[in-house]
Amino acid sequence: MVPKYKRVLLKLSGEALSGEQGFGLNFDIVNRVCAAIKECVDAGAQIAIVVGGGNFWRGRSSGEMERTRADHMGMLATTINSLALADSLEQLGCQVRVQTAIAMHEIAEPYIRNKAVRHLEKGRVVVFGCGTGNPYFSTDTASALRALEINADIIFKASMVDGVYDSDPKKNPNAVKYDTLSFMDVLNRDLKVMDATAASLCNENNLPILVFNLEQPENIVRAVAGESIGTVVHS
Ligand code: GTP
Repeated sequence: MVPKYKRVLLKLSGEALSGEQGFGLNFDIVNRVCAAIKECVDAGAQIAIVVGGGNFWRGRSSGEMERTRADHMGMLATTINSLALADSLEQLGCQVRVQTAIAMHEIAEPYIRNKAVRHLEKGRVVVFGCGTGNPYFSTDTASALRALEINADIIFKASMVDGVYDSDPKKNPNAVKYDTLSFMDVLNRDLKVMDATAASLCNENNLPILVFNLEQPENIVRAVAGESIGTVVHS
């Protein structure tokens, strides 16, 4: 495989890592995802990862809690997933560094942009934990921010949907999938690809997002190779 993209920010859905149980981690899935990531690294692509935490905690839906504290719990959930990915990648023979936006020195490196870039240049996978480190921001926004900071060529958003549709394909059997879309379309039509903060950040900085399904983890390899899968959102 010859990578089309040199440096990729891979946003993984936490929920997709839990499989059918819908909670926690399914290590068969985690290992398959990590095997695909390793294939990309072996082919020469640089991969940085942001993972959600929805398989452990959904900060947004916890209405009874104070939002900031609920979001702190969500950041810890992303770190659990980051450590699981790092462990699986290491067992497969990849070099990995986990960096967290909130310092937890005993567990991971603190986020330092230049060190992250250096790790990538050395062929290490870098996993960014704790989102942006701030409440009120999603891991989609963290992906956009980190991707811009490390000068990634593209964001891959790998989740439970195989692309962006004009309506919910689970409710409407005639829903049409887009191959390409602009961020303005996403914002104006309120398509649920990513939140508006992440979409604006990518739009303003000309950073494309490829949305595809993680249920076939090999899609990560196909995406790095530049095959036309999923939906590309661009400025
Ligand atoms: P180079 O600069 O290429 O040598 O990178 P490196 O990551 O190999 O070197 P470094 O000496 O920074 O780190 C060695 C090991 O310690 C790696 O596994 C790092 O992930 C880990 N490490 C570095 N800083 C921290 C930290 O603040 N906390 C934790 N928990 N681990 C750290």
